[in-house]
Amino acid sequence: MKNRILVTGGTGYIGSHTVVELINAQYEVVIIDDLSNSYASVIDNILKITGKKPAFEQFNLCDKKLLDQFFKKYTDISAIIHFAASKSVNESVEKPLKYYRNNLMSCINLLDAMREYSVPYMVFSSSCTVYGQPEKLPVTEYAPLQTPSSPYGNTKQICEKIIQDVTISNEDISAISLRYFNPIGAHTSSLIGELSTGTPDNLVPYITQTGIGIREFLRVFGNDYDTPDGTCIRDFIHVIDIADVHIKAVERLLGNKNKAQYEFFNVGTGRGYSVMEVIKTFEKVSGKKLNYKILGRRPGDIEKIWADTSLANKELEWVATRDLDEMLLTAWNWEKHYRPVNI
Ligand code: UD1
Repeated sequence: MKNRILVTGGTGYIGSHTVVELINAQYEVVIIDDLSNSYASVIDNILKITGKKPAFEQFNLCDKKLLDQFFKKYTDISAIIHFAASKSVNESVEKPLKYYRNNLMSCINLLDAMREYSVPYMVFSSSCTVYGQPEKLPVTEYAPLQTPSSPYGNTKQICEKIIQDVTISNEDISAISLRYFNPIGAHTSSLIGELSTGTPDNLVPYITQTGIGIREFLRVFGNDYDTPDGTCIRDFIHVIDIADVHIKAVERLLGNKNKAQYEFFNVGTGRGYSVMEVIKTFEKVSGKKLNYKILGRRPGDIEKIWADTSLANKELEWVATRDLDEMLLTAWNWEKHYRPVNI
């Protein structure tokens, strides 16, 4: 058995897939999650997939007292993968303080605990939202950052900055931020996937829910963009490819292979697909015709973005391998498997 890794937000969408890959790679895992947007049953499903039940502590990271108790109980943590955060772009516009309080306090408390309990490494869950609409595509890590269009996006950018400043002030702490593009898809077992509570904001859960009949039609937000078919372009990436890159990032830190105390990498496939291409691919892999209507643009949406992934490919020795068909097929299988038994 290798080192023990703390995964905050480990019952969430990307967190749960990462826990599975960590266990598969023989790591000992402990999860902290407040279950504000996930379910304890995810732990049982991780057990079904891996044959191992990760340790689990339920609390919110803003509670410093509980975090102290946690680190007094688990004295053998080698690294932290920090996912736990509120993540709805729309909700963050309506409730900015909830987002600033939760996302920033969690991150600050964890960094404090890292100093206090001598945990040297953190991998942080960031987002391509920090680039806004880049001038040059594919976007590299050195593109200028722009003010994100939502409080959610701001919290990602501010957390990155806080983490960087802490690594500058403290030579015992090193960190890697992973800037995800658009994570979609689910585990091949269909036991874990993206659990959208309420109406989903994101494209693929909305598509699969429309496909299965929960939503009447998909609203396509704009077809008058300057793209080949007029719809927005994104770099969609399979959630298991994202999970895999966390293992690489943790191993880079644990093996002292990082080239700076603070590093950041794009995590995408390097290929952009339009909203319309996603719809067509969904129809192909599911064999279902999707109801959709073209509506006006959604405020805050950027026109097009895809990643230059060469830095992550080289430095992390990682490359995304799963294609759009597989992403949408696993998302669809998850939708079909999950709905009838759980809702
Ligand atoms: C958003 C966040 C990003 C986050 C990602 C995944 C911003 C600006 N973006 O990305 O940080 O990582 O979610 O959680 O903060 N669309 C439709 N109909 C729908 C839903 C979406 O046409 O019902 C279109 C959108 O207009 C967009 C594309 O699909 O062009 C992707 O949208 P979405 O899945 O919400 O992701 P992003 O906004 O790209």
